[in-house]
Amino acid sequence: MYTSKGYSRRDFLKQVAASSAFAAGTATGFLSAAVIAIPRQEPGKPIAPSDKIRLATIGMGIIGFIDTWTALQAPGTEFVAAADLYDGRRARTNEAFGREVFTTRDYREILSRADVDAVIVSTPDHWHAKIAIEAMNAGKHVYCEKPMVQKLDDGHRVIEAQRKTKKVLQVGSQFVSSIVYDKAKELYKAGAIGELNMVEASWKRNSAIGAWQYSIPPDASPATIDWDRFLGDAPKRPFDPIRFFRWRNYWDYGTGIPGDLFVHLFAGIHHVLGSNGPTQIMSAGGLRYWKDGRDAPDVILGLYDYAKTESHPAFTLSLSTNFIDSSGSESGIQFIGSEGVMTIVEDSVKLMRRGIYHPSEKEVVEGYNSVGTFAKALQEKFAEQYRASMASNPVKPRLEGSSEYKAPEGYDDRLDHFRNFFEAIRTGKAITEDAAFGLRAAAPALLTNNSYLEKRVYGWEPEGMKIVS
Ligand SMILES: NC(=O)c1ccc[n+]([C@@H]2O[C@H](COP(=O)([O-])OP(=O)(O)OC[C@H]3O[C@@H](n4cnc5c(N)ncnc54)[C@H](O)[C@@H]3O)[C@@H](O)[C@H]2O)c1
Repeated sequence: MYTSKGYSRRDFLKQVAASSAFAAGTATGFLSAAVIAIPRQEPGKPIAPSDKIRLATIGMGIIGFIDTWTALQAPGTEFVAAADLYDGRRARTNEAFGREVFTTRDYREILSRADVDAVIVSTPDHWHAKIAIEAMNAGKHVYCEKPMVQKLDDGHRVIEAQRKTKKVLQVGSQFVSSIVYDKAKELYKAGAIGELNMVEASWKRNSAIGAWQYSIPPDASPATIDWDRFLGDAPKRPFDPIRFFRWRNYWDYGTGIPGDLFVHLFAGIHHVLGSNGPTQIMSAGGLRYWKDGRDAPDVILGLYDYAKTESHPAFTLSLSTNFIDSSGSESGIQFIGSEGVMTIVEDSVKLMRRGIYHPSEKEVVEGYNSVGTFAKALQEKFAEQYRASMASNPVKPRLEGSSEYKAPEGYDDRLDHFRNFFEAIRTGKAITEDAAFGLRAAAPALLTNNSYLEKRVYGWEPEGMKIVS
């Protein structure tokens, strides 16, 4: 029904006027949302056996298992090898995917295998850039989990390796391949919310696991875990299973809430708006409740200014996460414009059209208003002038109405993200979330942490991807 190409704002307005929800909602009433199904992507042509992609996963933890399962749902894929530093996870890999899957503690043994075409890098953040670069240099395509880098300086090195090796690198923020975000992008481009002026997003959590208190297996020990390799370039420390299994809590290995969660929001928002990122970054927060030895804050808010570009006007973004928020599990992104609000929540885009309210003559002249404070003679003169201006240029009633676009039950954006990755490998088709996109999502997240730690505002140049004063 919708195509983003050649679909104008006027077409959009015509279409909403014709839809009963919007038409009946004109001017006064606000209707319950019409729910419109978003069509799923077509699965595509069958894959020839010669086009099979042989995969390996480096980092078989929570998302390593999920990514591997998901990737194998796409036709023409085979799982041949995995690396992980904890023996229990390598054992589980063979239980789940078969004895024939080669496993090792040393990811370099994966990169040197001729039967691996592509690797999933799903280690903790401090290993992403190093393994991704080595993998591309070894001739492998890379699906690198977010955030693409833990350290800003590594960003350009990953971009350079991708450019030099011409390998496909896709960063694992699956919103970028989601039909829900594509629908939001299409609605935004068609002018559904008028002129954008602000975006607000939050990610709420209120559980121990949500606050990164992940489970520690009973056999965790220096014998079952390759602790030195885990540390990599991070500061040397004695064996600590808490740091190993709950690495997100520590700056040495993770990237705090911004690198874990805001990075998804940046990726999704940048995709919808066609944006390269903010120009100004500031944040506030603190460690309020989870005083369990962690050093990353459990409450953080970020504020970002985006300059005007060809695809969006100047606008302000606010992001927040609180790990002690019992107000409900809902997280979402709201795009606020002059004619409405578009909200992405889970698998749907909710559109509420609500233009600026222009009060009636009675409200302006007699209502709770400043006119009554003018001298009597001026009040009458004001009323006359007002009537004359309204006669020549009557205020149009504002449009009101709502609609909801929903993905099919059970829709999995991660699978579409893997399909796009595999399609890029097979056909050379460009992918959206390449290394530059990955850095443009990761950098504002990392600078949110810097801003919090240093209590300073950062300037960022999103096209050249560098800090400016
Ligand atoms: N896209 C998403 O929705 C999503 C969701 C969750 C996590 N992630 C990302 O995935 C990554 C992993 O997160 P997780 O929750 O699965 O962590 P995890 O701790 O559950 O798993 C990480 C695994 O990596 C292994 N590992 C560590 N260093 C390694 C190395 N040098 N070589 C081989 N294996 C190594 C560990 O042994 C561990 O089993 C993180 O960067 C995270 O941000 C993405």
